[in-house]
Formats: sequence, structure tokens, C-alpha cells
Amino acid sequence: MINGLAIFPFVLLHLIANTLAYTWPNLAYDYVEEFLWLELTGFAAIPTVCTASPDGTTPSIQAQWLRTAYHDMATANSGVGGMDGSLFFELDRPENVGVGLSNTRNQFIHHISKYTPIPDLIAAGAVIAVGQCGGPSIPFKPGRVMASAAGPSGVPVPTGTLAEHTAAFQRQGFTATEMIGLVACGHTLGGVVFTAVDFPTVNTGSGIAPFDDTRLFDNHIATNYIQGPNINPLVLGPTVTDSDGRIFGSDGNVTMKSFASSAATFSSTCATLIGRMIDTVPTGVVLRDPVVPIPFKPRDFLLSVTAAGTLNLQVTADIFGPSVINNNRVVTLHWADRKSSTCASGACSASPISTTSNPSLRNGNTLQSYKFSVTVPAAASFSSFWFTVDEVGNGVTVTTQNNGGGNYPVDDMIANVPAYSCGMFSGPNIARITTAVRVDGTTQASSVSVEAMLQNQVGMTADLTTVSASLGTAPFVSPIPQYVYYTALIPGDASVSCQYLNYEFSAIFGRVTHTGPLLGGACSVRSIHIGTTCSTT
Ligand code: HEM
Ligand SMILES: *[C@@H]1O[C@H](CO)[C@@H](O)[C@H](O)[C@H]1NC(C)=O
Repeated sequence: MINGLAIFPFVLLHLIANTLAYTWPNLAYDYVEEFLWLELTGFAAIPTVCTASPDGTTPSIQAQWLRTAYHDMATANSGVGGMDGSLFFELDRPENVGVGLSNTRNQFIHHISKYTPIPDLIAAGAVIAVGQCGGPSIPFKPGRVMASAAGPSGVPVPTGTLAEHTAAFQRQGFTATEMIGLVACGHTLGGVVFTAVDFPTVNTGSGIAPFDDTRLFDNHIATNYIQGPNINPLVLGPTVTDSDGRIFGSDGNVTMKSFASSAATFSSTCATLIGRMIDTVPTGVVLRDPVVPIPFKPRDFLLSVTAAGTLNLQVTADIFGPSVINNNRVVTLHWADRKSSTCASGACSASPISTTSNPSLRNGNTLQSYKFSVTVPAAASFSSFWFTVDEVGNGVTVTTQNNGGGNYPVDDMIANVPAYSCGMFSGPNIARITTAVRVDGTTQASSVSVEAMLQNQVGMTADLTTVSASLGTAPFVSPIPQYVYYTALIPGDASVSCQYLNYEFSAIFGRVTHTGPLLGGACSVRSIHIGTTCSTT
């Protein structure tokens, strides 16, 4: 009991420290957190669910993603290479045989963004794959840098000798014992694919020869090996390709026995080893702090000038964690206006326009979301907002969510104009973004620009183009005196399908830059902010 009490404050402080470190908004953090934990960009939705037993024909997307991460890291050599996305320039090498790797590249290139370069997607893919199949939660630290070309070769192949494999893992930063662990952690998912070009001598049948008897991330790779029945094609295949047999037996089966006798040992060892694998980056690349989910957070904030000349604020409040879905809960949005006069004493509040929930996120998490949309006269505008939460819904215990004390700030110097912001599918321009800039006394915006993020599907990078916006002329003229409209045409090749992803607009007043929210392009999965076709009037 005394121990329990002593530990409790530590755990609590740790959680609070993680949460306190975050202040909304933090665009780069928010983007990654939402795609990683809330599974909102469609990235994590790609893998099909891990079913209990392999059927021999359905590939495991999770397995393909995990193998991809290893193959990207496997050429690391004392600070050169590692998780840098160079694998996607190296897919024609014999050591990277297998359609799973090119399938993964084709899935990932549609998710490149300023905040999620390819090597971060590869690392996040491994984290998601392991978590979705029931494996441990592995910290994800963003910040990897995309290579510009292929790097050295050196991915281990099943025909290698034990000495060659031990040397390869040592070069990658893993001991002989850790090699056994990392291979077992990888080969708990998926199997050896039979095709003429892949490994027809290892899998002489058809379809996929699984490494163990489940598709889950579990210790069956070890229990099957130690206790049988063992079905691992890299143990039972032709001797020359029995790399798992050579590696697993290399310490007299000590490591594999420890995994077979304890699912917890397997799980925690894999969390550490796969964590180190994805954090193996070239010297000079500094990873940021792990992206942890925020239990309560605003998302999809958007301030817009409507066609009627009013100001609309949209925001969704997300509640995230294990078992958060509660249909009795009442969440209310409150806001202060520009001068805090019409909304004095918390007079302005609104109920959600819709509620959605997701009961089955990875690692036992759930999400309940409350979407708000409120419209006010542009003169009144907004300066900040906050929420109250009543878990029981009877008004007795109401807590406040206010960004750690300072409320969630609204910058109304810059706003979106949805009526004139859209994707275009012909001509030399691929989008038009219209921005409303506040007229505030005598201060004028010195320049207004839009940063567009385009997917370069050949270089596999997010190409950023900054386009200056010009003062709107008819019909792109503001209907109200509080705002001036600026319009930018984003150049691009309309014939490349889904080339563009998202936009950020900003206006410079004196020395201060005001940046609007990230707008999703029509081809991004979350094309929530701008329309698909442009109306010219
Ligand atoms: C000596 C080291 C290794 C060798 C020789 C090796 C070899 C292989 C081979 C031959 C396949 C079949 C691929 C195919 O048919 O497309 C495979 C699959 C796989 N490997 Fe490894 N591997 C090694 C280490 C690792 C490591 C360290 C990991 C990850 C931590 C890993 C993860 C995977 C996964 C998940 C699959 C299944 C892919 C699928 O089902 O699509 N491997 N490996
Ligand atoms: C290790 O386990 C494998 C598979 O059960 C077995 O074939 C092999 O003989 C074992 N090796 C040792 C040294 O016990």
C-alpha cells in the first residue's frame, strides 16, 4: 500500500508533465498526433484488421509495413543511413525483393506532407502496424529527413551465414542477442510470399507461408518454434535459406525460450528493439519528443468569412483515451468576443452540431468528438474559446478545458473564405485560395501569401511553394468593411492526380506573421476545408 501510494504521485506528475508541455495550437504536433493517434487522415485505416489466423492468401498489410521499416533501417552503418526513406529508391535491388515493399511505397506517397516526410511515415507505419495487431505501444518521435537518393546496400538475405547476419546487425547497432529478438519481433507478423520473383525456393507452395500460426503481434513465433508445431518457412525450408533457424538457435535457444515462456518479455523486448530500430537515423538528424496523445484537444479549427459577411468559427473537441465514449456527457463551447463586451461574463456559448465516436482505436483507445459551428457578426468576432465538460450531464460537476489556463486563442487577423477557395482540375493552376485579412485601424498587411504543399511523387518529398496573394477584384471582394480579400492561384500540373495536399495561408503585418489553419486539398483524405470545384462567382 505504501509502495502504491509512493508510485502514484510519480505517475500522475509524469502524465501532467506530458500534457502541460503542450499548448494549443501546435500545428506540426497536432498534425502528427491526429494522424497517428486519432487515425484521422486515413493513413492508419489502410491496413486491414489483423485476424486471428493466417489464411495463406490475404497479405498482412501490417507485416508489409513492419518489413518496410526494417529494410529502410537495415543499411545503417555508424551514423550513415538508417531510417531515411532511401529504401524507396532501392526497391529494384535483389535484397529488397517482394511486392509488399512497393505496395507500401504506393500507399505512403499519398500521405507525404510538410509534417510527415516519408521516413517518418515508415517509422509511424511500424508503430501503427505493431499496435493494430495487438503488440506493444512504441513511442513515435518525428523528425526524420528524407534522403535524396539511394544509399548503400546491405539488407540481410535468408541465404546469409550466421556470421554475416551477426555482422550486419552489429553494423545496424544491435548485439547478437538483440538480433535474435529483432528478427523474432519482425517475424511474428506475415510470412514468405510465393511468387516467381520473390522466394519460390523458400515457399514452394502458393500464397503466403506464415511464420507462425496467428496474424497477431504475439509470442507465437517463439512458442511455435520451441514447443511446435513449427511452421516457419525460414526454419523449415531448404537449409541454405534457413536464416531464422540459424539465428534463433545461435544462443542455444535461450532467447527464444524466454519469449516462449513469457508473452510479456516478448512484448517489452520488442517495444524496445523496434523502438531503437525506427529511431536509427543518420548523424545530424535530431528526433523530436515522442508524440503522445492529448486527452482533450480542439481539432479542425477554422475561422471563415461567410458569403453573408458574418464570421464563422468551426472547431471540434476531441476526447481521447481508453473508454472515453459517454453519451451522457455534455460538452459546451464558450467564447469571448474581440472586446469581450457582447460575451461578457461567459454569456456566449453553444452546443455541438454533431457528435461522433470511434470505439476501436489502437492500443485500447477510443475517441469521442464534438463538432461546433458558431456564427457571429464580423465586428464582434472572437478572441478566444474554451469548453466546459459535464461527464454525468446533470449540471452538478462541470469541469473547464481552457488550454491549461489561458483559453484557446483565436487570431481573427486572418480567416478563410470558403466560397472562393477550391481545387481546380484544369489549366496551369490546381487551386485557388482566398484569404480574408482583417482591417484593424491603420495597420495594413504588408504581404499576404499562401504556402502550398505539393506531393512530389517521384522525389517522394513535400514540395513547398509560396505564392503571393493579390488583392481580390470582382467577384473576389469582401462583402464587409472588417476584412479585405486576397486571392492566390496555386500553380501545378492538374494532370497529376492528387498531386496536392494542403495549404497554409499567412499575412504579414509589420513584423508579425499571422498564419491561418492548414487547409486540406480536395485530394487529401481530410478535404474538410476547401471545396472540390471552384465557383467563379
Ligand atoms: C537476418 C535478418 C532477416 C532476414 C534474412 C529476413 C528475411 C525475410 C524474408 C525472406 C521474408 C519474406 C519476404 C517476402 O516473401 O516478401 C521476410 C518477411 C518479413 N520480415 Fe524479415 N528478415 C530478417 C529480419 C527482419 C527484421 C529484423 C524484421 C523486423 C523487425 C523483419 C520483418 C519481416 C516481416 C514483418 C516480414 C513479413 C512480410 C510480409 O508478410 O509481407 N525481418 N523476412
Ligand atoms: C533449438 O530449438 C529448435 C527448434 O525447436 C531445435 O530444433 C534445436 O535443436 C534447438 N537447439 C538447441 C541447441 O537446443
